[in-house]
Amino acid sequence: MLKNDRLLRACRRQPVDRTPVWFMRQAGRYQPEYRAIKEKYTLFEICEQPELCAEVTMLPIKQLGVDAAILFSDIMTPVRGMGVDVVLNPGPILARPIRTMQDVAALRPLDVEAAIPYVTETIRILVRELDVPLIGFAGGPFTVASYMVEGGPSKDYARVKGMMYSEPDTWFALMEKLSAMTADYLLAQIAAGAHVVQLFDSWVGNLTIADYDRYVKPYSKRVADAVRATGTPFIHFGFGTGHLLQSMAGIGVDVQGVDWKEELDAAWARIGHNVAVQGNLDPIALYAPTAVLDAKVKDILRRSGGRPGHIFNLGHGILPTTPMAAVQRVVELVHSIDPKEMSRLG
Ligand code: CP3
Repeated sequence: MLKNDRLLRACRRQPVDRTPVWFMRQAGRYQPEYRAIKEKYTLFEICEQPELCAEVTMLPIKQLGVDAAILFSDIMTPVRGMGVDVVLNPGPILARPIRTMQDVAALRPLDVEAAIPYVTETIRILVRELDVPLIGFAGGPFTVASYMVEGGPSKDYARVKGMMYSEPDTWFALMEKLSAMTADYLLAQIAAGAHVVQLFDSWVGNLTIADYDRYVKPYSKRVADAVRATGTPFIHFGFGTGHLLQSMAGIGVDVQGVDWKEELDAAWARIGHNVAVQGNLDPIALYAPTAVLDAKVKDILRRSGGRPGHIFNLGHGILPTTPMAAVQRVVELVHSIDPKEMSRLG
């Protein structure tokens, strides 16, 4: 049963007693318990065991006191369900990258309950056990396509942009399949009980506004439209997306994520105050002395102005060597301040 609905209220820009806080990558290698589990299983093996996957998802709830859980999974989980051979080492690596129209045609449509039934089974366990909202998620179309086309991480995105520019029919066919898959995948997570969903288009900031609008936005919008029809709050995030924030929010989001390179108040003004925002502490601030960390957290809260519709988070994921005490400190500090006092923070 949900006891704490701060996240849901903030998504809908309703007033809250305290700003909700959670962390992207809040389950992971900075936790000794997670590292112990990872000695025995790969990430996908954890995901395939719903009881274990639910336990990993809940680790940060108990340890940190955050206001939301995020399903433990990876953006490549549903891609595996389309018949693609992918391993994490540590980022996604494909045995056979998707490069041609034939490769795109060979991608199977995703049947969540047949191909990756463990995802919805994990969600059903979690919604029974959690007293905070559960965030389901999927990768955004550009980010997932970048791994599929490049075959692994990339610095310059030359192959994936090359497909857009030189083989647009192949690109648009891939986008059709990925957006349909992603919509189905998020709808299955919502049907299983996820309270909120987040679309992680982490690397889309590598596109110009014109390329984003032409090659990606219509497909992200299809995903957002499908989610909106259920009434489930939708969070959208990308890294290095200062120039894209308005366009990204324009697919119809409840909450736009802001990365740490931007000041929250300036970003929020550009996005528009009719949308909630999530962010945006630099993950490296978690390594700073407590006084420096505290000042940075308070600066973000001051910039939120206590306006309804701010979800405190990092501006990208937690790094594996982050000290647990700093993460706990951020939760404690955010929860100690009444939103009504925030605009006066010094
Ligand atoms: O936030 C959470 O706690 C939920 C778990 C989660 C994972 N991946 C587990 C994971 C989430 C939300 C993701 C999303 C994801 N995966 C993104 C978008 C978010 C972002 O960080 O920008 C991306 C780009 C991926 C692709 C991916 N998977 C990368 C780049 C890596 C390596 C990163 C690293 O830290 O080394 C992975 C592997 C991965 N997925 C790990 C975790 C906890 C780390 C390796 C492991 O523990 O096995």
